[in-house]
Amino acid sequence: MAGARTIAVLGGTGDQGYGLALRWVKAGEHVLIGSRVAERAEEAARNIREALGGQGTIEGRENPAAVAEADIVVVSVPFSAQATTLKTCRDSFREGQILCDLTVALASNIGGPATRMIIPPQGSAAEQAADLVPKGVKVVSAFQNVSAEALANLDEEIECDVIVCGANDAKPVIRDLIHHLPGARYVDGGPLYNSRIVESITALLIGFNIRYKVPHSGIRITGIPAA
Ligand SMILES: NC(=O)c1ccc[n+]([C@@H]2O[C@H](COP(=O)([O-])OP(=O)(O)OC[C@H]3O[C@@H](n4cnc5c(N)ncnc54)[C@H](OP(=O)(O)O)[C@@H]3O)[C@@H](O)[C@H]2O)c1
Repeated sequence: MAGARTIAVLGGTGDQGYGLALRWVKAGEHVLIGSRVAERAEEAARNIREALGGQGTIEGRENPAAVAEADIVVVSVPFSAQATTLKTCRDSFREGQILCDLTVALASNIGGPATRMIIPPQGSAAEQAADLVPKGVKVVSAFQNVSAEALANLDEEIECDVIVCGANDAKPVIRDLIHHLPGARYVDGGPLYNSRIVESITALLIGFNIRYKVPHSGIRITGIPAA
C-alpha cells in the first residue's frame, strides 16, 4: 500500500533514480533519495517536491542512512559505482529488506560503447549485487529497460514492460511499484540469473534509439496475460 513503506533510491540524484522517485512520490510512496553527499540528496528531494507542486513525502540522505531507514532499496548507479555503493551500505542492510537492482553493465562503464555489454564475473550486475548484500536481503532486478527520459516527463506514459527477476516473495511489492508507472506492465522474469538477459536488452534498446533516431525505445512481451 502506497505510503506505508519507505523506498530508498541510491543514486536518486541521477537520471534514472530521479525519474523513478518522481513517479513513486507522485503516487503517494514515501521515498528517500540516497547519495554519497547528503546535500546532493536533499537538493534532488527538493527538486522533486517542487516538480510535484509541494506534494509528497520525499527526503534526502547519505546512502547508508537511506538504506537503514528503508523497506525497499533501489540501486540506481552506474555499474562502475555499484560495488562501492553497496559495500559502503553493507552494515545498514537488515534481513527481510528488498533490494531492487537496476544496474546495467554497459561497456560505457569501461570506456566502450553503451550499445555493448561487459559481463561481470557473476554473470550480471544484479547477481553481483546479490553477492554484496547480507544473506536474508531479498534481491530482485527490474526497470533496466525503462528510459529515464520517459520517467521524467509526467505527461508521458511508460511504453515498456518491466521484467522482474529474483526473489519470488519480493515480486508482488515491485509489481505495486510498477503499477505506479502509467503504461508500464509487470512481467515475471523468473530467477535472478535471467537478469543477464534483461540487462543486455538495454544495450539493444540504446542501439535502436541511435539507429531509429528516437528518444527512447522500449519492450513489450506478447502472448502472456496482463499482470
Ligand atoms: N539513464 C537511463 O535512461 C537508464 C535506463 C535504464 C537503466 N539505467 C541504469 O540505471 C543506472 C543509473 O543510471 P543513471 O543514468 O541514473 O546514472 P548516473 O546519472 O550517471 O548516476 C546516478 C548516480 O550514481 C552516483 N554515482 C555516479 N558515479 C558514481 C561513482 N563513481 N561512485 C559512486 N556513485 C556514483 C551519483 O550519485 P551521487 O553523486 O549523488 O552519489 C549519480 O547521481 C545505471 O546502471 C544505468 O545503466 C539507466
